[in-house]
Amino acid sequence: MKANKKIKVAVIGATGAVGQVFMWKLAEHPWFDIAYATASASRAGLAYGETTHWILPIEMPMAIHNIEMKEFNIQSMKDAGVQIVFSALPAGVAREAEPQLRANGFYVFSNAAAMRYDSNVPILIPEANYEKLDLIRDQGYPQTGFVVTNANCVTTGLAVALAPLRKFGIKTIQINSYQSISGAGYPGLSSLDIQDNCIPFINGEEEKIEKEIKKILSIDPDVYVFTVRVPVMFGHLETVWIDFEENVETEDIVEAWANFKVASDLPSTPELPVVYSEEKSFPQPKSAFWGTPRGMVVFTGRLKKKNNKLGFVLMVNNIVKGAAGGSVQNAELFVNQYGLLED
Ligand SMILES: NC(=O)c1ccc[n+]([C@@H]2O[C@H](COP(=O)([O-])OP(=O)(O)OC[C@H]3O[C@@H](n4cnc5c(N)ncnc54)[C@H](OP(=O)(O)O)[C@@H]3O)[C@@H](O)[C@H]2O)c1
Repeated sequence: MKANKKIKVAVIGATGAVGQVFMWKLAEHPWFDIAYATASASRAGLAYGETTHWILPIEMPMAIHNIEMKEFNIQSMKDAGVQIVFSALPAGVAREAEPQLRANGFYVFSNAAAMRYDSNVPILIPEANYEKLDLIRDQGYPQTGFVVTNANCVTTGLAVALAPLRKFGIKTIQINSYQSISGAGYPGLSSLDIQDNCIPFINGEEEKIEKEIKKILSIDPDVYVFTVRVPVMFGHLETVWIDFEENVETEDIVEAWANFKVASDLPSTPELPVVYSEEKSFPQPKSAFWGTPRGMVVFTGRLKKKNNKLGFVLMVNNIVKGAAGGSVQNAELFVNQYGLLED
């Protein structure tokens, strides 16, 4: 890699919950340089720091305060030298914008569900299915651009925790989620609905988890899901029961997670993607921004076996690993594998 050459990137939907994580993660990224940022058209011309209602529990980096918001305009993005576009748009808007960007030669890394289920669009998680990146060739790359998506946030945590357990044969998955309110974006839910309350329905979420875990891990288990919104700011907790084809003991799971190291030198990939602890009340959403890089580790605990089922609890940061952090990691994988920083 050439240390002095950075790739120009755009963030679209930069002011929302996921967009803020993009801006934070990209502010001092060693390979990427924010050359363009957009949100609703009415923000064009305003400084990012002035127009954004910052919700992250991390100070806004100085480097992004004065970035001028632009209108969504493909020619202006080309003129600004943008190669990679990070999308944090609502699905309906993404459905229009992302194919247009692809046709115009941009490499799009998206959080939106709009194109996740197209057969030539990968739902990419480097720890679980890095080889699916090559689907970009089925979209026409390098003659055209492409769209790479990342998974729904609950599915991301589940896929990372299950990736090293696939070898035991996954027959059934039962999962219940306890999902934070930042998962609904900003301003998201009314406080009158969620304060002192839990809501046992998240529109479309259970279907997404079932469909996406199968596509990502290339497995076909029976999946039983309940999703619940809880009054927590960041971090989704998930309780999981798995039936394996093989006879598996809790020690086998602990060993599989401990030995699960992804060979890569991507800046956003944790050395140990799944961190397990025997501590009784671990993990909790309070640790959503723990780990190195922050928010990118999936934490597991409460491992137990009953009859032939193995159960555990996991916690994933929904807006970092489960969204923008995962997208940045996907872009790093692409840049690394396709030699974009080499002459
Ligand atoms: N939140 C999560 O944990 C999470 C996890 C995984 C995936 N996702 C997905 O990621 C995407 C973004 O989610 P979010 O939670 O960040 O949503 P959000 O907080 O509602 O942010 C949406 C962003 O899109 C912009 N936007 C909305 N309508 C637009 C339009 N018509 N034209 C241009 N820009 C527009 C908004 O700009 P303004 O601020 O100017 O309105 C804002 O910057 C969604 O597709 C979501 O499903 C979210």
